[in-house]
Amino acid sequence: MVLDGFGGFGNGGRRIGRSSAPSLPPPGRESTAWILARINECNLELGLDSDRNIRRLVALCGTLMGAVQVGYERLRDGGLQPTVRWTEATGAEAVHSTAVPGLEPRLSLEPGAAVPGAGAVNGLKVEPTDGGTRVTVGVRYGGVRWGVLRVALDRVFVLGDIDRRILEFVAAAIGIEEQREGSEVARRQTEERSRLVFETIRDGLGIVDPFENVVFANQAYADILGFTREEIVSKNLRELLVPGELDKVLAQTEQRREGKATVYELAMRRKDGEVRQIRVSAVPWRDPNGAFVGTIGAIVDITEEKKAEAERLDHTARLRRAIEKTIQAITTMAELRDPYTAGHQRRVAQLAAAIARETGLDDEAVQGIYLASVIHDIGKVAVPSEILSKPGRLEPVEFQLIQTHCTTGYNILKEIEFPWPIAQVVAQHHERLDGSGYPAGLKGAQILREARIVAVADVVEAMASHRPYRPALGVGVALEEIRKGSGRLYDPEAVEACTRLFEQGGFEFD
Ligand SMILES: [Fe+2]
Repeated sequence: MVLDGFGGFGNGGRRIGRSSAPSLPPPGRESTAWILARINECNLELGLDSDRNIRRLVALCGTLMGAVQVGYERLRDGGLQPTVRWTEATGAEAVHSTAVPGLEPRLSLEPGAAVPGAGAVNGLKVEPTDGGTRVTVGVRYGGVRWGVLRVALDRVFVLGDIDRRILEFVAAAIGIEEQREGSEVARRQTEERSRLVFETIRDGLGIVDPFENVVFANQAYADILGFTREEIVSKNLRELLVPGELDKVLAQTEQRREGKATVYELAMRRKDGEVRQIRVSAVPWRDPNGAFVGTIGAIVDITEEKKAEAERLDHTARLRRAIEKTIQAITTMAELRDPYTAGHQRRVAQLAAAIARETGLDDEAVQGIYLASVIHDIGKVAVPSEILSKPGRLEPVEFQLIQTHCTTGYNILKEIEFPWPIAQVVAQHHERLDGSGYPAGLKGAQILREARIVAVADVVEAMASHRPYRPALGVGVALEEIRKGSGRLYDPEAVEACTRLFEQGGFEFD
């Protein structure tokens, strides 16, 4: 505060010889010494409490100006909110409400009535009022408008140089308090919020400097690694890593140095030596100038999660293998009874899987088609073996009996919850696109894609191989048959893929 700057005080409009307490003006009130003494008194009284300081400054203003009232209104949300009021009789008090009762209208200190425009908020305005003078000063500091100081005098007042300096000083001092209060509150709130987040969050939160030293850790961070907070803060990450993990950490640090957030998994060793799988989500930590000064990382122990995941995958794989072996066992049993179709299902499965792959289906779908094909004629167990192995043409009733194998197969399998529609494929493998197939006479898209593929493989394998009632016709004749029926009986995409497999892919039955 530049007190030396006051000088050359003139009389201004100040009246002399006021008698009311508490600012009983001593003789020589107008003197520089008296004013400096009041300011120094006020300065000595200022403490850490900004609100109290502002009340004190408003009172100082009233005393120095010989005012009857002084009001400080804080600028909030674009409006002025009465905050502190000082009167000769009562001194300064906090108002903190939107209405200021008791301020004399003639002095125009009531809010709303004399809300100054931007110009007044910025500067200083002296206006005559009914029986007195009103002075309005903008409170600005640090490039921010904080509010307005209004001084009411019960006399005609001419603004002198000293009055201007007093008003500017008080306004600036209030601005400083406002800024300090604002930053203090904001800083305290931020600190408190950060502390709460750091302490209550269940994830481990830590800060690591660019040399991998742990410089901060919350309780969860320490707990995950089995140390106390004091112990963990003196550690370097290198001491906590399983050999081989350091390169990964350094590569991730490099990414963060470039400003990227990273998420990765690490094997870390606890204090007791136990290795745990840790998932790290980390963001770069920068100083106010933007320089990389470390990493803020959240860590979660995912060891159990990983174990459970591995067990689940292992369990699923074992279940899959069990399903496959069961299907193979059923097939083998059926084939023992019906040697003529022995190998038919296996070869159909081989071809159907190749067609499925050729048409772009994924491994999962291919597997389903393979397994459905391996078992597609299972329903033939219900057909007398004399009919199945009968050489020569079948009687219509015998043919009808053979046709039941689709539905029988479906009934055998329908209760089993395969991860694929195996029972439906078995039911539909003799359906044809134009509805001429059996048993349901389904058409086009009513037939599962898987079943349409098995149908093509089934026809090709059957024609290419030896049958009890005829010798093998060969692959060429088989391909000719499906080409002729493409789009009418057989799925064109499957026909095309099958043809390609034999003619370009060099496909052969085992
Ligand atoms: Fe069949």
